[in-house]
Amino acid sequence: MSRSFSVGVLVGSLRSGSHSRKVARALMKRSAPALRCQWIEIGDLPMFNEDQEGKVEAWERLRAAVKAVDAVLLVTPEYNRSVPACLKNALDVGSRPQGRNVWDGKPAAVVSVTPYKLGAFGANHAVRQALVYLNMPVMQQPEAYIGNAAGLFDEAGGLTDQDAGELLTKFMTAFGDWIDRLASRGSSGDFDAFMQGRAQAAHSYVNGDAGPVDRIAAPRGEATFFPPNGGVVTGAAEVAARYRSDAKDFAPGGESKLDVLQIADGGSVAFWTGFQEASARFRGKELEMKLRITEVFRCVDGDWKLIHRHADPAER
Ligand code: FNR
Repeated sequence: MSRSFSVGVLVGSLRSGSHSRKVARALMKRSAPALRCQWIEIGDLPMFNEDQEGKVEAWERLRAAVKAVDAVLLVTPEYNRSVPACLKNALDVGSRPQGRNVWDGKPAAVVSVTPYKLGAFGANHAVRQALVYLNMPVMQQPEAYIGNAAGLFDEAGGLTDQDAGELLTKFMTAFGDWIDRLASRGSSGDFDAFMQGRAQAAHSYVNGDAGPVDRIAAPRGEATFFPPNGGVVTGAAEVAARYRSDAKDFAPGGESKLDVLQIADGGSVAFWTGFQEASARFRGKELEMKLRITEVFRCVDGDWKLIHRHADPAER
């Protein structure tokens, strides 16, 4: 693993003697030091009810805790061949208000647990089903269905079964690699290469072609655009529409150059700041402009997406 990641661990059982919590503890113990695992408790969350939005402190606590971690590990028993209500409730709470899904894009892994010989498959896949909608890249292999869980631990809750220990170690190693791989899809070299395309997109834009900018604009959620002539546009759909409509004011024959002063890439978020100089035909007139630019990008499904652009005229 090339760097360190924080992992939030949620357990789908609230009872004190929970086998699932023991398994979660054993997984945390067996994870590489580069994975900083921490509990995210869900037992105090009232059942989700949209009428109570903005009034429930425990929901805000959960949302903040999930936002703060790089990845999520879900360890759950099976209730009636499905996911226990407390865990589903936590997933629901984190997914709202609409457009502010805190699970979005977080790498995840699922471990399901049963004291029986057979079981845990239903819960594991019921959780995965929700994670698809929540847009969480879930580790596919190895899968972990922990059977006979009651017989794996000593009285102090320590794991005594060697085979289970090896399986859990392998699982956490693979999960660390999975998180690292997803994070590095948006890492430095990648962002530098992306910026070459960004400069090309700016060139197309001042020639009246909004297509390349449209393809890197944030597809959903929050976004902001502060255009050079003042004001602010907010929301991904509104910002993308504004980019498209502004491009129509440019005619072919323009030139654009980005002068990047600072650039940084934090894995899932990146920015550059500097100047954009352009000469273009704008609303039928020749236009020379120098803009001060700050752009912020977020890695969405492995691609850099523009979530914030601030452009204002530079003093000449
Ligand atoms: C269960 N249990 C259970 N086990 C299983 O393998 N498949 C199932 O469908 C169910 N269904 C089920 C429903 C309800 C409401 C309860 C309370 C229990 C048994 C369950 O695996 C067992 O109680 C575990 O010990 C629960 O996990 P924790 O609390 O030990 O982590």
